[in-house]
Amino acid sequence: MSEEIVVIEGDGIGREVVPAAVEVLDAIADDSDAVGPFEYVEADAGDAVLAETGEALPRATYDLAANADATLFGAAGETAADVILPLRDAVDSFVNVRPARAYPGVDALRPETDVVFLRENTEGVYAGHEDRLSADLSTLTRVVTDSASQQLAEFACEFVEAGRGPDHRDGFTVAHKANVMRETDGRFRETVLEVADERGVAADEELMDAFATKLPLDPSQYGVVVCPNLAGDVLSDLAAGLVGGLGLLPSANVGTDNGLFEPVHGTAPDIAGEGIANPTAAILSAAMLLEHLGYTAAGGRVRTAVESVLADGPRTGDLGGSATTAEMTDAIIARL
Ligand code: NAI
Ligand code: MG
Repeated sequence: MSEEIVVIEGDGIGREVVPAAVEVLDAIADDSDAVGPFEYVEADAGDAVLAETGEALPRATYDLAANADATLFGAAGETAADVILPLRDAVDSFVNVRPARAYPGVDALRPETDVVFLRENTEGVYAGHEDRLSADLSTLTRVVTDSASQQLAEFACEFVEAGRGPDHRDGFTVAHKANVMRETDGRFRETVLEVADERGVAADEELMDAFATKLPLDPSQYGVVVCPNLAGDVLSDLAAGLVGGLGLLPSANVGTDNGLFEPVHGTAPDIAGEGIANPTAAILSAAMLLEHLGYTAAGGRVRTAVESVLADGPRTGDLGGSATTAEMTDAIIARL
């Protein structure tokens, strides 16, 4: 039986890098009896479909993503928030996995960076309870539950136990601000550390502001970092700045039995349509998709091939080369 992967290219370079990632998935599935076959179901979302139909995220796309084994998404333009937030909801994603890794051969601010952020994806200040109480006063309610913190912590422990974290560090670090937000981050911190302790996973902690100073000074101290929603959003972007470009960063929104995999970058309107976008972030997102489906070895093969091309193969303009999207993709496939 084939596994169903919903493919949402979206707008701009999403239409260039997602097909490249699908080519890589196909190459792996063709080459290995243990992987696939995959059935791709194309679905629309973003600015173009909004212009056509009046809806940035058609119900059919939402339903397909909700029922698929996994969804590969490119990027949406101005409608990004209207597309991504409901899509994350469709796949019941409780954690956003964001690796930031500097690869040999790529000019990075901090070449020793190799961290994976596990960001709580449903609550914190993004749970949406904002109010305007008067002409002078607005408030925001921050939501933290034991259940969401536990689910994230269990995922973090499994992630670490499966050896999916960077090799240079055991266990994980919890970043929080429980010295000030004693109730909410206090609950988050305590719950996460308790789960780690019960499972025998090494866990240490950092105040998130101190972490923001220490990470760029010496990223080698950190491996897997577990964060509340907003902190994870900001800190993972900080780490992205250390590794040499948006075209390299994949992400996964993981739910209990579903997932949405997407490059961190947007539609890159300045280069869209020219066939020169860097396919790496989308291809590494496909590697995360493979791992999510249980194809750990295949995901590793994709990552190794990408690393090899980044080290000494053809590269796109954002990395200082002159290769097209197709040339870089072909080089990666050739080294699988
Ligand atoms: P962007 O990520 O699209 O582009 C920022 C810069 O990085 C541009 O110079 C672009 O050329 C470059 N870049 C990004 N990805 C690249 C790749 N794969 N290869 C080579 N160069 C790459 O972010 P920007 O400009 O802030 O947003 C553009 C549009 O994308 C906006 O409409 C925004 O709403 C949307 N967006 C969508 C996201 C999503 O769907 N997840 C995320 C971020 C932005
Ligand atoms: Mg962000």
